[in-house]
Amino acid sequence: MSRFARRALFALAALVPFGLGRPAAADSFPSRTITVVVPFAAGGPTDTVTRLVAESMGRDLGQTVVVENAGGAGGTIGAQRVAQAKPDGYTLLLHHIGMATTPTLYRRLAYDPVGGFETIGLVTEVPMTLIAKKDFPATTLAEAVKVIRRDQEKLNYANAGIGAASHLCGLLLMKAVDAPMTTVPFRGTGPAMQEVLAGRIDLMCDQTTNTTEQINSGAVKVFTVTTPERLPALPNVPTSTEAGLPEFQVGIWHGLYAPKGTPAEVTARLSQALQVALRDPKLIARFAELGTTPVAQEMATPAAHRKFWLADIAKWKPIIQAAGQYAD
Ligand code: MLT
Repeated sequence: MSRFARRALFALAALVPFGLGRPAAADSFPSRTITVVVPFAAGGPTDTVTRLVAESMGRDLGQTVVVENAGGAGGTIGAQRVAQAKPDGYTLLLHHIGMATTPTLYRRLAYDPVGGFETIGLVTEVPMTLIAKKDFPATTLAEAVKVIRRDQEKLNYANAGIGAASHLCGLLLMKAVDAPMTTVPFRGTGPAMQEVLAGRIDLMCDQTTNTTEQINSGAVKVFTVTTPERLPALPNVPTSTEAGLPEFQVGIWHGLYAPKGTPAEVTARLSQALQVALRDPKLIARFAELGTTPVAQEMATPAAHRKFWLADIAKWKPIIQAAGQYAD
């Protein structure tokens, strides 16, 4: 090797400790607005969680983090948008348990529902509540079960599409009650809630981040929470075990994702900002009002998120296959 080449190599090696050996993109990230895609309509539980997280992450990142709603097809339209986005850290996805059910429920997707994403970190696990229109002819879960078994398809049940949390919760409910209802899909449970409030939808199972305030104001009826313990935000609402349906339990975990190929330094910086957001007292207080809490800090990392996600895909696969209900 010539003297000149050796000198150039040593000069380059000397720069590495100053991070200059890394891709320039990672060093200057973020240098502009970041978009977080919510795969459901505005005003729903996923949107609510995302807006709180985005605002807090933006403060740590020193950049605006905007939320873009891309609803439809149980969240797969929004997920595809991010899977096919440039892997530069400026287009992210905040999605929930649907990321664990989609790989089995949807057999002909235009994107890879697992291989298309880098994980950044888990965010929160939100309880579900079974709610009904204000004049639904039942006060307790036992009475509601009797009405569902009596009226069956005459009742309409709202969800946000196949693979949505509201869809999964409905499957668990109809299995536990052993009676079908007519399912009405929406682009998100934000719009669906408007139909429950208007009395045009009979029942919906939705996350506390969308139902707590409607329940506490008396605008809708509530029969149970799908958690083993009662919730501080809804202390008078019985658990499904207390209400006689112990098998009716489900928690909706949420995670933050980037397109496959996003540099590890970039996902690490985003995970750092997510962890700061989940320690934000304002966010923690608002989550508590809405019946949920942030995940532990160690779960808001790319590795912990990926391990949890892959295990949940494996958990739901046989359940969905046994039910034989697919989206396509
Ligand atoms: C769902 O899966 O039901 C979603 O949470 C609905 C939504 O966020 O709008």
